[in-house]
Amino acid sequence: MKKFFKYFGIFILVALVGLVLAVAMRQNRTFDAPYPEIAASTDSAVIAHGKYLFYGPAHCLDCHSSMEDVEKVNAGVEVLPKGGRIWNLPIGIVTVPNITSDKETGIGARSDKDIARALRYGVSHNGRALFDMMPFHNTSDEDLTAILSYLRTLPPSKNPVTTFQPNAIGKVLNAFVFKPVGPDREVPAAVTRDSSALYGEYLATSIANCRGCHSDRDLKTGAYIGPEYAGGFKMPIDGTTDEFMVTCNLTPDPETGRITDWTEEQFIARFRQGKKIKTSHMPWGPFKTFADSDLKAIYRFLKTLKPIKNDTGPVYVKS
Ligand code: HEC
Ligand code: HEC
Repeated sequence: MKKFFKYFGIFILVALVGLVLAVAMRQNRTFDAPYPEIAASTDSAVIAHGKYLFYGPAHCLDCHSSMEDVEKVNAGVEVLPKGGRIWNLPIGIVTVPNITSDKETGIGARSDKDIARALRYGVSHNGRALFDMMPFHNTSDEDLTAILSYLRTLPPSKNPVTTFQPNAIGKVLNAFVFKPVGPDREVPAAVTRDSSALYGEYLATSIANCRGCHSDRDLKTGAYIGPEYAGGFKMPIDGTTDEFMVTCNLTPDPETGRITDWTEEQFIARFRQGKKIKTSHMPWGPFKTFADSDLKAIYRFLKTLKPIKNDTGPVYVKS
């Protein structure tokens, strides 16, 4: 019996050492993905559309600003996306990169295709799987081109930023679980921009990320674990580990849907008011510039959803 325990102990030890080694060796895993045929344009209409998406519906600044600029972004000021915002998540510290045209610390030295591949397929220029926070996997060729074209007009701003720093859980996930997230449907070349529910669906899923926040998700992997748009995602408030904002149910359920009894005008008016709850993650600042017709499209799309009964409770919780 003693011998058994001895061998069992040795076995466990060897297995543990093996696991630790495997985790360490697999930290720099690289991935491949196709390069989209996307190139920046100098056409002023294309750049103008890219600028609208960048500061407004696609809210790039809401993440790619520096920590000092957070209040300005909430107020809708167009600062440079010099990066540095951090999120302390259960998997480690996620830092947002500098995406100005600085060659050393920004994306000035990256090719158009590198940037387009990162946004569509979640693979960085060096093959690393990007932490999946951006909703642009199904974004049309036309819109990716517009965003890229606008990015190329930004002046450089030198600001060195570290990349994702996983903790022990993050390292294990990094070694075995994380992989690049790409499109989950056929990516359109272009989408007709009107106030239809169809365009609203596109905006809500592939540009403004209403789906990404208003659906319950696993904070460690980003996987969708609840019905889409039914809310209930508990998002830790920046800088805390026990305080959360909970997203509301956007489906037209008569009892638990947040906007079921809002008119289209009330919905649009709410977006013009900006952030009311200081700790809210919702990019209310950038969303102030949403065009009326785009908001109408989103409202109409949300009305077509299947009502789902999901009482998400108070918007702020402390555990
Ligand atoms: C919800 C937050 C969020 C939003 C919104 C967001 N980003 Fe990002 N972005 C990130 C994070 C986090 C990373 C880094 C992920 C990592 O390092 O694993 C990143 C990385 C990038 C990268 C670098 C990819 C690489 O190859 O290393 C580019 C380029 C980029 N984002 C552009 C944009 C643009 C353009 C927009 C708006 C159209 C945008 N991002 C909106 C969070 C965001
Ligand atoms: C980064 C996460 C995030 C994104 C993206 C996001 N939301 Fe929210 N949303 C929240 C949170 C958190 C709240 C609750 C706190 C608040 O009211 O600001 C909220 C609240 C709301 C409310 C209730 C506002 C009120 O005054 O009661 C509506 C309506 C809403 N979101 C709609 C949307 C729509 C439509 C989109 C896409 C255009 C969207 N959200 C994108 C996180 C998000």
